[in-house]
Amino acid sequence: MNMTEYFANHNVLLAPMAGVTDIAMRTLSREFGADMTFTEMVSAKGLSYANEKTRQLLALAEGEDKVAVQLFGHEPDVMASQAAWIEDAMGEHLAWLDINMGCPARKITSKGEGSALMKTPELAAEIVHEIKRAVACPVTVKFRRGYAIGEETAPEFACRMEQAGADAITVHGRFAQQMYSGVSDRGTIARVKQAVRLPVVGNGDVKRGEDAASLMAETGCDAIMIARGAQGNPWIFREAQIAIAGGEVPSRPTVDEKVAMARRHAELLARREGRNIVRMRKHASWYMAGVPRGAEARGRINACTTLDDFNAVFDEVLRVTRQYEAAGFFMNNTGL
Ligand SMILES: Cc1cc2nc3c(=O)[nH]c(=O)nc-3n(C[C@H](O)[C@H](O)[C@H](O)COP(=O)(O)O)c2cc1C
Repeated sequence: MNMTEYFANHNVLLAPMAGVTDIAMRTLSREFGADMTFTEMVSAKGLSYANEKTRQLLALAEGEDKVAVQLFGHEPDVMASQAAWIEDAMGEHLAWLDINMGCPARKITSKGEGSALMKTPELAAEIVHEIKRAVACPVTVKFRRGYAIGEETAPEFACRMEQAGADAITVHGRFAQQMYSGVSDRGTIARVKQAVRLPVVGNGDVKRGEDAASLMAETGCDAIMIARGAQGNPWIFREAQIAIAGGEVPSRPTVDEKVAMARRHAELLARREGRNIVRMRKHASWYMAGVPRGAEARGRINACTTLDDFNAVFDEVLRVTRQYEAAGFFMNNTGL
């Protein structure tokens, strides 16, 4: 796959999110217009120990033809051998391999992994180089504006990744030390785009379809990637596609639509994970943002474990919504 050609027609991506971008979320994101989705980040070391939980992260969703897999680690040989293993195991279902050089979590950076690799560009380049030698699929790298606050190393780092053989890069416009505070700097993404010939994916703070279109227009990036804006909100992909095409973005989903989507999400999870779908709690809470008496619903969600538990909360949300409507409140658009 040539990434420049690919991004010419596929430019709205669901970002990798550990603990979030499971098969259910990926299915719904695809259905609503995400051109590509990523697995949760996968530990190269965990895979090398044939850890079953790690391997499960590579499972495809129903009807998912391709997925991009994100690897993290710091040992070039381990990462290269596991990249080859993934390519072999997944075959044509693997869209490409992405390397995590942006995660700011201490448990990752303390081992020299994730965003800590921005502090060791030579090692980062060696990782890319070794993985490229081991696989035939495209290899991309995801990183941040820089590691330390105020030190924008992204453009230079991008050049290193290009020289090492990366096929595309994704930049999130925050420093690693910022974690998720402040705003994602669009200027960084524009400067990275200027610095390399590779396709650049812009990431950070795309919360509405309009943000996707303006991020592309302002930075010249080839594609955009959405993380938090997609939580409880698969509609954002349709909105982004319409906005990028210059169309009029449809109105936000109603409470009924949100509840229906939350039910589907729970069903998809239950089909895969069985009776205990505790992982649905965070998704359900995101879907219930902006619904009447949402705080109360979220409180109840925190005690749910089964599909029936979640459906009981959703039924109650609809009952309250009908009451609000009967009292004359207009609940047709949650505005979120
Ligand atoms: C809960 C959560 C988990 C994340 N996990 C990953 C991950 O596994 N790999 C990665 O590269 N980025 C991860 N990220 C970062 C996002 O992919 C993205 O770069 C960041 O959230 C900025 O985009 P946004 O403003 O659209 O959220 C995670 C973010 C969140 C909120």
